Parts: sequence; C-alpha cells; structure tokens
Amino acid sequence: MPKTVLVTGGAGFIGSHTCVELLQHGYDVVVVDDHSNSSPRALERIAKVAGTPLAAVYGIDVRDRRALSSVFAAHRFDAVIHFAAKKAVGESVEIPLEYYDINVGGTTALLAAMHEHGVHRLVFSSSCSIYGNATEVPLTEQSPAGPTNPYARTKLLCEEILDDACRRLPELSVLALRYFNPVGAHPSGLLGEDPHGVPNNVMPYVAQVAAGRLPRLSVFGNDYPTPDGTGIRDYIHVVDVAEGHRTALEHLGDENGMRVFNLGTGVGSSVLDLVAAFSEASGRQIPYEITGRRPGDVAELVADPSAVARAWNWATTRDLATMCRDAWRFQELNPTGYGA
Ligand SMILES: NC(=O)c1ccc[n+]([C@@H]2O[C@H](COP(=O)([O-])OP(=O)(O)OC[C@H]3O[C@@H](n4cnc5c(N)ncnc54)[C@H](O)[C@@H]3O)[C@@H](O)[C@H]2O)c1
Repeated sequence: MPKTVLVTGGAGFIGSHTCVELLQHGYDVVVVDDHSNSSPRALERIAKVAGTPLAAVYGIDVRDRRALSSVFAAHRFDAVIHFAAKKAVGESVEIPLEYYDINVGGTTALLAAMHEHGVHRLVFSSSCSIYGNATEVPLTEQSPAGPTNPYARTKLLCEEILDDACRRLPELSVLALRYFNPVGAHPSGLLGEDPHGVPNNVMPYVAQVAAGRLPRLSVFGNDYPTPDGTGIRDYIHVVDVAEGHRTALEHLGDENGMRVFNLGTGVGSSVLDLVAAFSEASGRQIPYEITGRRPGDVAELVADPSAVARAWNWATTRDLATMCRDAWRFQELNPTGYGA
C-alpha cells in the first residue's frame, strides 16, 4: 500500500523536489501551500517530472486552523513533512514578528491538527543557521546552538516546541533535519529555485548574474578567517536533500520522540569557489564586487554528516560542479523562472 504524506510548502524549492522524489517512490502526496513564495506552476512541473500526479493540492495558509483541519479530515496521513515557512535572514531582521507568526505559529497549528487527527509522524525543516557563530567546524548535532537572527531563532524555537510535544506525547516521532545550504536544481531542468523578487540566496543570484539578468554579485566580506577571506558554506544538492527526506520518512518508525540530524555534505566551499565552479559550468564570466560583511553572517558553516550516515546508512552523492550544472540548466531553460 502506498503511504500518504502531507507536504506543507510543497510548491517551494525544496518541497517541489521532495514531492517528485516521493511520487517516484510510490507515495501518495498531498500539498498545502499558500504560494506566498512559490508559483502554482511548480505543481504542474512536479507531476510532469514524476510522471504521476499529486493526490491533492490545497492553496491554504498552514495557520488557518479550520482549513487545515478539513485537509486532515479528507485524507489519512501516515506522515507530514513541514517545509512551509519564511526563510530570508535579512528580511527576518526587518519583520521579525511575521517570521515568528508564520514559522512558529504555522508549526503549532500543524501540530494541533496532527494531534486532533491522530497523525504522529513529522519531518521538520530546520536549518544550520541555528548554530550561529560556530566556534568549531565541522558542526555536529551536539555543537552549541547560538542563532544570530530572528529567522534562525524561529527554527530553534520550533525544535524546542517539537521536543516539548514529544516529551508530553510519547506516540510522536519527529525528525528535525538541519539543512546546510541547499542549491542546484532537478537534472530535468524543469524544477529549480524561483524565488519571488531578487534572490536572497547566493546560487540563484549567481545564476541570474551569469544569465545577464543581474549585473554583478556582491560578495559580502573578504576579511573572514578563511583561506580566501570569503564565507565558507556546505552546499548540498537539492535532490540530495529530497532523497534525505524520503529516507527520513522510512526511519520515522525506528523510534518515537525527537531526533535531530544535520543534512550536509561535510565539504566547505567559499563564495569565490562557488563563483569559479558556476563560471566553469555555465561558460560565462560572473562579475562580482567585494562589499562589506552582512550583519548576521558568519565565517564558516560546514556539517559533520556522520550521524545520519550511521543512523540511516545514507550520504549525499552530488558535488559542487553537479549543483552548478543543474542550477545553470534550470536558469537557461527557464530564463524568468516559472513565470515565463
Ligand atoms: N533553502 C535554504 O537555504 C534552506 C536552508 C535551511 C532550511 N530551509 C528551510 O526549508 C524549508 C523550505 O525552504 P525552501 O528553500 O524550499 O523555501 P521556499 O520559500 O521555496 O518554500 C517554502 C514554501 O512554503 C510556502 N509557504 C510559506 N508560508 C506558508 C504558509 N503560511 N502557509 C502555506 N504555505 C506557506 C511558500 O509559498 C513556499 O512554496 C523552509 O522551512 C526553510 O526555512 C531552507
């Protein structure tokens, strides 16, 4: 029997790739997304890439408790993957209350609906940003948390809420996955990252510079204590992230309670490494300028991915060149994203 999974934020960047992965492995997938940061066209692409349709789609806000409850009443979910959230660090400094409302309020509304309808298995999107100013790399799940901005604080708060819920409700099984830096696109060129407005994340920004849509990349700081002075991140291919979610679903039943895992490659790349790799993949020059450090940014965030490897016998398989090649293919085939 295929299992039925609710994916909140399923039209977004990571959600859409995860939906494809689940559909291709025989899951029935129901999406809830208010399209505040995604196009409904992504849903058509999911069906096209997977070769099979989504079971149902609801254009609702996860905080709308009545609407969410009717979605749960209409299906028998075996598990939920909760992607729906706002994710821009800079914006979270500008409008922190909205971030708490959507990210934390959305999670508590979802937990309430799960509890009301007897659904006990959840995979939650957390973030490496909760580690903040890491004093040691690579980061293990035991490294101290120290979020430096409201976005990261919402993610840590959600983890704490989920932990509290698991202590009170022994039937709950929650896996919080702390993603490092998801980038790239589906190799078909049909799915990718298509944020509303100017991209906040470096890879779609670089892609738009390579395509001539943006004049140049601003590199925020070259005076960090790293070999070339620019920030180092652990970029992870979005299809690896999607495969990680499918694998997580398979392990929700291993034990109840709250478990936390890093999702990264363990390989750090600087901003200038990324620019060089993207230039190679696209055959284009990527003009850039060095500007000042961005408030809230940190020097280096690289995962120790060994816990997930031990627990699930799973690891990422795609390198930076593949991430750049796939992101560039999506950019070339979809010059204006899903809007064209
Ligand atoms: N992309 C990254 O670099 C990254 C890194 C770490 C963690 N995460 C987390 O992963 C998750 C997915 O990120 P993404 O990159 O796919 O972002 P995204 O913005 O592309 O996807 C989020 C989706 O959720 C939807 N959404 C937002 N608020 C909603 C609401 N209140 N009700 C219903 N739908 C809503 C959006 O329309 C969008 O489709 C987020 O929780 C994010 O915080 C992302």
